[in-house]
Order: sequence, then C-alpha cells, then structure tokens
Amino acid sequence: MTAPVNLSDLEALARERLPQMVYDYYAGGANDEVSVAENRRAWEAVRLRPRVLANVASVDPSTTVLGRRVEFPVLTAPCGFNGLAHPEGERAVARAAASAGVIQVVSTAATTTLEDVAAAAPGGHRWFQLYCYRDREVTRSLVQRAEAAGYEALCITVDVPYLGRREREIRNGFHLPPGVTLRNLEPYAAAEMAASERDSALAKYVNALWDPSLDWSAIDWLRSITRLPVVLKGVLAEEDAKLAAEHGAAGVIVSNHGGRQLDGAVGPVYALREVMQAVGDRLEVYVDGGIRRGWHVVAALAMGARAVLIGRPYLWGLAVDGEAGVQRVLETFRNEVVLAMALAGRRRVADVDGTLIAG
Ligand SMILES: Cc1cc2nc3c(=O)[nH]c(=O)nc-3n(C[C@H](O)[C@H](O)[C@H](O)COP(=O)(O)O)c2cc1C
Repeated sequence: MTAPVNLSDLEALARERLPQMVYDYYAGGANDEVSVAENRRAWEAVRLRPRVLANVASVDPSTTVLGRRVEFPVLTAPCGFNGLAHPEGERAVARAAASAGVIQVVSTAATTTLEDVAAAAPGGHRWFQLYCYRDREVTRSLVQRAEAAGYEALCITVDVPYLGRREREIRNGFHLPPGVTLRNLEPYAAAEMAASERDSALAKYVNALWDPSLDWSAIDWLRSITRLPVVLKGVLAEEDAKLAAEHGAAGVIVSNHGGRQLDGAVGPVYALREVMQAVGDRLEVYVDGGIRRGWHVVAALAMGARAVLIGRPYLWGLAVDGEAGVQRVLETFRNEVVLAMALAGRRRVADVDGTLIAG
C-alpha cells in the first residue's frame, strides 16, 4: 500500500502488521458490535452549516481542558495494553502527545508503570484513568501514585462493572504474551492475565478483581482521598450526568467505551446532546467513540463538548510506526480540525457554536 492518506488507510496498514489476536482486541467490541458501527455512523449523520467570507487566513484550534491549555481539542483516550502494538507502548504515546501539546489519558491497564509513562515525557500533561479494584487499598495506592507522579486529573471509568462480552477475544483466547503485563499492578494477581485458554483471560481478570458493587458513594470516597479533579468516563444518560455534577465531578466523558461494553448502547452524538442539555453549564463535557475526522471533532465542539478523545486511531499509529506513528495521527487530527474550522468559517474554538449544526 502507498503512504496512508487518512486514518482508514492507517488502520489497514496496522491490520497487516499486527497478530490477529491483537488486531481483534483493538478493533473489536461487544456482542454483534452494533455500537462500534453506530459510533462512527453517528458522526457521519451530523450536518454542518458553514459560514463564508469570514477571513480564515489564520485559524487557532487551541483551547483549555480543565484550565490546562491544549494545542487542539483532542485527548488520547485510555486504552489498555499499548505494549501489544509497540514495545515502547504508553511511553511512545506520552512523547507524541507531549510534542503535539495534548493531554494523554493513561489506562490503569497500561503495560508500563504510570511513573515510567510520566518520566518518558516530563513536559507532557496527563490524566490517570482509574479502574476500581475490589481491594480498596489497591485502588487507593493507584490514586496516590498517580498524584505523586504529577497526573493532573483522575478519570474514573464507570461503565465496566463487568467486562462486556467481546466475542473476538473469546474466539482468539485473548491473553498477554510473555513480557507484557499490567505493570501498574505487578505482582498483584499478574498470573490471572498470563493464562491462555479458549476464553478471554482479560474477562477472567476483570471479573475477578474489579469492583462491580461500585455506586455513587465510591465517587465520594475517591474524591475524599484525592485533591485531583475527578472526571467520570462512560456517562450516557442525563440522570447520571446530573448525579456526577452533584457528586462534585469536574467533568464527564460521554462514551460507550468504543462499543466494547453494552452493545446497543446509544451513540455519542445523541448522548452528547442529552448530557449537554442536562449539565452543559455545570461541568466540562467530553465525548468519544468513532471520531475519525477533524470535522467530527468540530461537530462535537459545536454541540458543546469541550474536547474529544480518540482511542483506536492512535493505536493504529503506534502499531505502524511507534511514537512517530502516533505523532502522525495527532498531526492528521490537528490539520483536519484546522481545515474544517476554516471551511466552516470559524477562526477560533470559541467561534465554534451551536449555529454550526444544521437542523
Ligand atoms: C483496545 C482498547 C482498550 C481500551 N481500554 C480502556 C481502558 O483501559 N480504560 C478505559 O476507560 N477505556 C478503555 N477503552 C475505551 C477508550 O478509552 C475509548 O472510550 C474508546 O476507544 C473511544 O472510541 P474509539 O476507539 O472509537 O475512538 C479502550 C478502547 C480500546 C479500543
């Protein structure tokens, strides 16, 4: 294949290079992958009403996220096991995000310790994504380590009481190859993930160790043990968005986990509208799922999102060319955002408002 022109080309290249088990883990979703397909279709159904003659000789896509300036409104989403794509894994993503001037959200299920990720790009900015373990001391220790390592927010993922049933993982007997582990938790329960069998070792691990009994009191507890702002990831209903605000969250990420949890869960565009109406004036709202083009980002901003997260695209970049590949993905998003803003007649992020959405 010739040099990738867009992110779909890049995915095709990554697919050629990755073992089937890894490609399927990254690309796949729950059950029939209805929500995976829906996520992208949701953005493609949005229509924009551009303004013209707006002097777009210079366009500035920078903004702020929880008060932190970012060069453009895209964060790298927390994705487990970056080390399956490239030996530098999360460290490569850290360097690429830092040089692009965007925030990296680092998963609990990283294949590098959270301290090593921070050390890889000391000038970068990052949030720690937390999965709550049944053992509260394990959870507390992760929070304390993230604070000590300079993470700037705690992103608590609330849509995984159990792992969604990812049938590609079951078919492939998904497991971690030798040398790749959940470094943040080592040596705690590491053996749970090493096993290879006709089932998903990930599902076994999650269902044994993560806490399915979480409720809103867990958010209060987490807020009581950290000074970091708390962002809840995986909110789709306005009732939960309101509760998030009442429980002191600084932000919510409207997300169906890239279609990997409840198949049939509503797509990002519809949920974003609902959540914005409920809490848009009370906290920052971000959105992810199926965002593959700069104009999708601009549409999300026009609907009120502060920024978006991208997951799979940076994994494809990482698989194809490590840090340089992730850099290329972020650059592609930045260039596409700038061009979409220019063609929409918007010079600054503040100009991207609801009047850009048709209908
Ligand atoms: C391979 C993979 C691993 C993921 N691991 C996590 C994780 O550890 N924690 C989390 O909160 N979300 C996780 N997610 C969900 C992403 O953070 C994000 O919500 C989703 O990927 C966005 O959709 P997109 O991939 O279509 O951009 C993962 C997604 C993928 C594709």
